[in-house]
Amino acid sequence: MTAVLEISGLRKTYRGRKGVRNALDGFDMVVEAGQVHGFLGPNGSGKTTTLRTLLGLIKPNEGRMSILGREVPKHLPEVAREVGAIVESPQFFGNFTAETTLSLLADAGGVNRNRVYSVLDLVGLRDRSKERVKTYSLGMKQRLAVASALLKEPKLLILDEPANGLDPGGIREMRTLMRDLSAAGMTVLLSSHILGEIQLICDSVTIISAGKRVTSGSVAEVLARHKSGAVKVRLEPGVDMMGAAQILRAAGAAVTLDTDHFTVGNASNPAQITKLLAQQEIYVTELTPVAADLEDVFLELTGTAPVEGQNRQVDETAMSAAGKGGWGQ
Ligand SMILES: Nc1ncnc2c1ncn2[C@@H]1O[C@H](COP(=O)(O)OP(=O)(O)O)[C@@H](O)[C@H]1O
Ligand SMILES: [Mg+2]
Repeated sequence: MTAVLEISGLRKTYRGRKGVRNALDGFDMVVEAGQVHGFLGPNGSGKTTTLRTLLGLIKPNEGRMSILGREVPKHLPEVAREVGAIVESPQFFGNFTAETTLSLLADAGGVNRNRVYSVLDLVGLRDRSKERVKTYSLGMKQRLAVASALLKEPKLLILDEPANGLDPGGIREMRTLMRDLSAAGMTVLLSSHILGEIQLICDSVTIISAGKRVTSGSVAEVLARHKSGAVKVRLEPGVDMMGAAQILRAAGAAVTLDTDHFTVGNASNPAQITKLLAQQEIYVTELTPVAADLEDVFLELTGTAPVEGQNRQVDETAMSAAGKGGWGQ
């Protein structure tokens, strides 16, 4: 696979009244061609700073970046045509229609006007394209923004928090659009602090925390590397689950009861479960590791639950509290 985007050792320091803050602290990222790549991190972790630096809007203190194999910002003038980006939410003139808006942008960018109709089709705005932008939902405005970034047929599309502020329907539309663009051969990089969506949209991810990459790879790889440590336990029908749970709890297990099974949240040594229960002549019929989801990994690595509209930065206490302790070793 070829890297469309490579970042290594990126550092950006801001000096404020409270002293020096490392917005990016030696950040690395690789995005392979044809992927929908999720750039995940809590608010304030450095996503927008990274994307703005990549586009030459911010000067880094250190680090190397390349887009489509060419070093940037040095070669930005040549690669700019190949990159479509929405980093700040674009403002459109509400009295213009989508068609007029895109036609003006096409003219300004030397793009053939026929392309306007292709991008309207791509983002699913063709049948509303003769209505004024001020009558559009936020989701439609976002899609118009994506359409404007697609006019020049970029190889790489960069979107900063495209799901921000969208309702579930809008997010679903955005997700379908990302998949369509990827199927059409485009590489898409999208940042988000909202996890659930990313797991469904992306092929691969980079997770950033406090200006550093904490993990990356295909969604499957990242999940495999971070087993949840929880196991689902089922007993023979009719056996007293409460009693079994008591035995395990007495040994330090974190047990959550369900109707027909229970979950041990901190089972780093599942054999201990069968052993403790068998000693009391309680026999296990099923013992299944519970797969981690991306949200668990995110929480574990960044020490923050992503909460929309809140600015939480990672702190060490949260990191250690998120680490799952074992028992019965
Ligand atoms: N212009 C600026 N001056 C000072 N600090 C900034 C500036 N821009 C961003 N920061 C700080 O850099 C860190 C990363 O911000 P940002 O890249 O916007 O994070 P994200 O996009 O992941 O929410 C934050 O701590 C933020 O407060
Ligand atoms: Mg941001």
